[in-house]
Amino acid sequence: MCGIVAYIGPKEAYPILVKGLKRLEYRGYDSAGIALIQNNEIRLVKQKGKVSDLELLASETSVVGSIGIGHTRWATHGEPNQVNAHPHLNSDESIAVIHNGIIENYAALKEELQKRGYIFKSDTDTEVLVHLIDEILKIEKCSLKDAVRLALNEVSGAYAIAVISLKEPNTMIGARKGSPLILGIGENEFFIASDATPVVEYTKKVIYLKDEEMVELNRDGSFEILTIHNEAISPKIQELELKLEMIEKGGYEHFMLKEIFEQPKSIFDSIRGRIDSNEGTIKLGGLEEYKTRILNAKRIIIVSCGTSWHAGLLAEYLFEDLARVNVEVEYASEFRYRNPVIDSDDIVIAISQSGETADTLAAIEMAKQKGCLILGVCNVVGSSIPRASHAGCYTHAGPEIGVASTKAFTAQVSVLTLMALWIAERKGTMTPSEIKQILIELENIPSKIEKTLENSVDQIKDIAKKFYESRNFLYLGRGYNFPAALEGALKLKEISYIHAEGYPAAEMKHGPIALIDEEMPVVVLANNDSIHEKIINNIQEVVARKGQVIAITTANDVEINKLAKHIIEVPETVECLSPILASVPLQLLSYYIALMRGCNVDQPRNLAKSVTVE
Ligand code: M6R
Repeated sequence: MCGIVAYIGPKEAYPILVKGLKRLEYRGYDSAGIALIQNNEIRLVKQKGKVSDLELLASETSVVGSIGIGHTRWATHGEPNQVNAHPHLNSDESIAVIHNGIIENYAALKEELQKRGYIFKSDTDTEVLVHLIDEILKIEKCSLKDAVRLALNEVSGAYAIAVISLKEPNTMIGARKGSPLILGIGENEFFIASDATPVVEYTKKVIYLKDEEMVELNRDGSFEILTIHNEAISPKIQELELKLEMIEKGGYEHFMLKEIFEQPKSIFDSIRGRIDSNEGTIKLGGLEEYKTRILNAKRIIIVSCGTSWHAGLLAEYLFEDLARVNVEVEYASEFRYRNPVIDSDDIVIAISQSGETADTLAAIEMAKQKGCLILGVCNVVGSSIPRASHAGCYTHAGPEIGVASTKAFTAQVSVLTLMALWIAERKGTMTPSEIKQILIELENIPSKIEKTLENSVDQIKDIAKKFYESRNFLYLGRGYNFPAALEGALKLKEISYIHAEGYPAAEMKHGPIALIDEEMPVVVLANNDSIHEKIINNIQEVVARKGQVIAITTANDVEINKLAKHIIEVPETVECLSPILASVPLQLLSYYIALMRGCNVDQPRNLAKSVTVE
């Protein structure tokens, strides 16, 4: 939710900021803005809409300067318009602030500031920060660093901010709590950003700021990290593993398409070095330290949101079936505000692509307070959720930029399969040969996805052409493929804005069957698995009501071929891995439908990649 980028150094800041904002646009694209120190004044350009709209506006004016801050917004407080766009300035336009997060006590602070004569221009929570800093500077006559620090002590909520001021034109301040902030260290230049993507082409040296830490950056190349309580911090400089080509489209029309096609590699990378399929063993270094606790757990609670919640639901099938552990899968947003019965023996698995989802983080904190062991399954190294977890396993899907999650989902399912097998091996709930069979199949998944991608694109385009004007879709699946049906429906609705519902196929007759008529496309995940006969019955029920069946089947399924008008074949695999293969055509189907409807595939309306607000 919102991306921030800032630069101080010898170069022109504007091109660096604009390029950085484009990379961060996945975090929000309601409005964008930049502020630079130019000839002893703050030059502000901001615009409703995308970074490209900002660029158009900026092309009509002069934006020169080597210290500047930039912001791309996902609106929370105040509608997405130019006034509410960041940066925000104080009244005499000598201070500029950008912010990602929510200042929860902004209303009270605003009222107080208004009483003291401050005039607010926007409806945002952020504007209180700039006036607060202004007031502290005037009263305390202190440095910008101290004014920001004292202001942050007055706010509650989440923030990642960058601040510049005309009074100290060679200094920039950054700070974070609850929202991510990374500091890039170049040759006599510094970068501040919400993630590493705006930084990677300039430097590999980074510092991940922790909660309540702030940094003062100076043009002479010096910097200081401290906490908002004024304690000095010795910086831990890390080397970025991210490469520039990983965050570029690489010839694909959209990031989403690129990411769908990257799945053979992202799954390979996520399982690499973690299995020995000859021996039938699994090595997950992240779990070893907590082995006894994990193996003795009576219950696993999975917390996550969106697509990661679907991966969690699939994990319920995996952990129960393979490792014989009790599992509960919780929407993090519900779990944190219920009064759930949590035992200190419970293990909590938090699944998140970004590692920054606010509800998932809050659910973790709640479970931690009850004494649970927290295991993170995250994609972004060094993000907040892995840092808040005791241990865990990263997915190695690489950066996922398309707002609709694709490769992160299949990587999550692959890693969760390994976690279930890791427990199964150590608890003896499966025989070595059973484990070995799944591991061999898991190693074959990348090539089977390649085959699916090679064979199915044209056919999926034809199906998309037939149904892209439909108003509703139903997605049905059973067993392991029920969560994959939910995920298929989510993909369609989020990027094409078609209403789509995922349902357990057998539940259809308890309600949704009433929706079926000749207009209704019904996508059925009908792999050749232990409940194949049952899913055929469900297809019959749809056909009898003239529904348009699009079946995802394994090759040469004679019976389904007779029943379904549209067939997409995926290779055969073991039952527990079949949802990975079935998900790929569903991703492609939603991609091509969205494309034909003229939707913005990578940046669907109202959404953001990283949901750092609750
Ligand atoms: O980063 P996370 O995995 O925690 O994000 C959770 C959801 O916000 C995310 O999966 C969202 O539902 C995606 N847009 C789905 O494609």
